[in-house]
Amino acid sequence: ADPGRQRVGELLGEHPDVAGVLSLLALDERPHPEHPGLSTGLVLNVKLMQAVGEWEEPVTVWLCTQDSVSAARADRVSHAAQSSSWGLGLVFGLEYPQWWGGLVDLPEALGARDIDRLAGVLGAGDHEDQVAIRDGGVLLRRLRRKPLAHESGQPFRTSGTALITGGTGGLAAHTARWLATCGVEHFVLTSRSGTKAEGAREIAEELEALGARVTIAACDVCDYDALARLVEQVEADGPPIRTVVHTAGVGVLGSLADVDLAEFEAEASAKLVGTAHLDRLFDRAGLDAFVLYSSVAAVWGAGEHASYSTGNAYLDSVTRSRRARGLAGTTIAWGLWSADDGGMADKVEADSLNWRGLRFMNPRTAVAGLRQALADDEEFLAVAEVDWDLFVPVFTAARPRPLLHDIPEVRAVLDADDGDDTGEDDSLRERLRPLPVEDRRIALRDLVRTHAATVLGHPSPDAIEDARPLRDLGFD
Ligand SMILES: NC(=O)c1ccc[n+]([C@@H]2O[C@H](COP(=O)([O-])OP(=O)(O)OC[C@H]3O[C@@H](n4cnc5c(N)ncnc54)[C@H](OP(=O)(O)O)[C@@H]3O)[C@@H](O)[C@H]2O)c1
Repeated sequence: ADPGRQRVGELLGEHPDVAGVLSLLALDERPHPEHPGLSTGLVLNVKLMQAVGEWEEPVTVWLCTQDSVSAARADRVSHAAQSSSWGLGLVFGLEYPQWWGGLVDLPEALGARDIDRLAGVLGAGDHEDQVAIRDGGVLLRRLRRKPLAHESGQPFRTSGTALITGGTGGLAAHTARWLATCGVEHFVLTSRSGTKAEGAREIAEELEALGARVTIAACDVCDYDALARLVEQVEADGPPIRTVVHTAGVGVLGSLADVDLAEFEAEASAKLVGTAHLDRLFDRAGLDAFVLYSSVAAVWGAGEHASYSTGNAYLDSVTRSRRARGLAGTTIAWGLWSADDGGMADKVEADSLNWRGLRFMNPRTAVAGLRQALADDEEFLAVAEVDWDLFVPVFTAARPRPLLHDIPEVRAVLDADDGDDTGEDDSLRERLRPLPVEDRRIALRDLVRTHAATVLGHPSPDAIEDARPLRDLGFD
């Protein structure tokens, strides 16, 4: 049954003593009747989060999935579809940090010891918010650095045809230019607009000048029959498809509270539905590469990226499941590419990234990441340009984020922060405690004005008008 957002709110209201919600909704993988591009469980998790977000009492939300993410080497990920709830959870954890418990992937065969382990995770109170329960115990998700110093494998070589979905987009052009140097004889570039897409003719001419044949086809990756027909036609004309790069995607921002499910479905479908179609069509040996373009929004999350993060989170699991079936598969989670030559980041302003510690990547650097990923036959890489000194304080402002704890630069920032503890929090609390409520407000306001004046170089807090937004005062 679909209890709906309102009903969840009512349930919470009927049980005011509820301290936590453990959602098993993701386990329902059936297509949602009204939004078949989304699973029923995913839709219900969205509604649950929206309802909890409106709830005023603290309640901790945990999402469970089952054999849906790659945690241990032997994982087969037989329920990749559930992993989209991981992307959703990451966004919830950023937009509602105070309500966030975490994500737990349960094993396929659930035993009594696993339930004990689950209870241990829920009760630990240690901020570990991304865990998998496996035979060996509880596994914690961590991002690790991949050294850039060497490429151990042979350079990537291929032949025949390369199918690039989203082939008329910004990243596809950079990708195709590089693939043309790796032996691709024929490019099939697909998007819904096909030859009508801006820049389609130019990229075709450019690739042809590099010696390749180019077909630009209007084909929605979510339309299975159209995609299957295209693949059949291309292979009948030869040469066979040996490289697939799935770049088709849509990036639309919006907060979780405002998610409209029809829009959410449309935004996520190139990733959720399109990836499943490609996986099914290329469930075969003989590919040199099957590459899925994901985003760091699905690795550590990004506020206001609910549909985007949800769609992209699915890709890692598809790749793991392909590898478990002995097939080619690589996911690359990109940071932001410079959009000077197109791409979905063309509306993003550098300033709005910089204060969060993110930088636009030079496409040449990014393509070097792709080259290395394929040369080393990586299953998963995140390639992003991050200034950790700036990123970590913002990203961890609301709560610890253990995912990043194994990155040496992150550790260094956190350790420096620990050593810097002035004890101001405690003394402030002590100062405020005896005051009447209105005086607390005034004391806090004066504290903010004093610090703001210092940072902005004013001689006195009087220069800070308390009703003016910080941004207008000169903060970014
Ligand atoms: N740009 C970045 O900085 C960045 C960062 C992280 C991840 N990524 C990922 O990299 C990929 C490419 O990004 P981009 O910057 O190159 O974006 P882009 O320039 O907007 O290109 C995306 C392409 O996908 C096509 N597309 C969308 N839905 C489709 C569908 N259902 N079927 C077929 N084609 C579809 C679009 O064309 P039509 O609208 O004509 O179909 C467009 O050509 C995306 O998957 C994105 O998530 C990009």
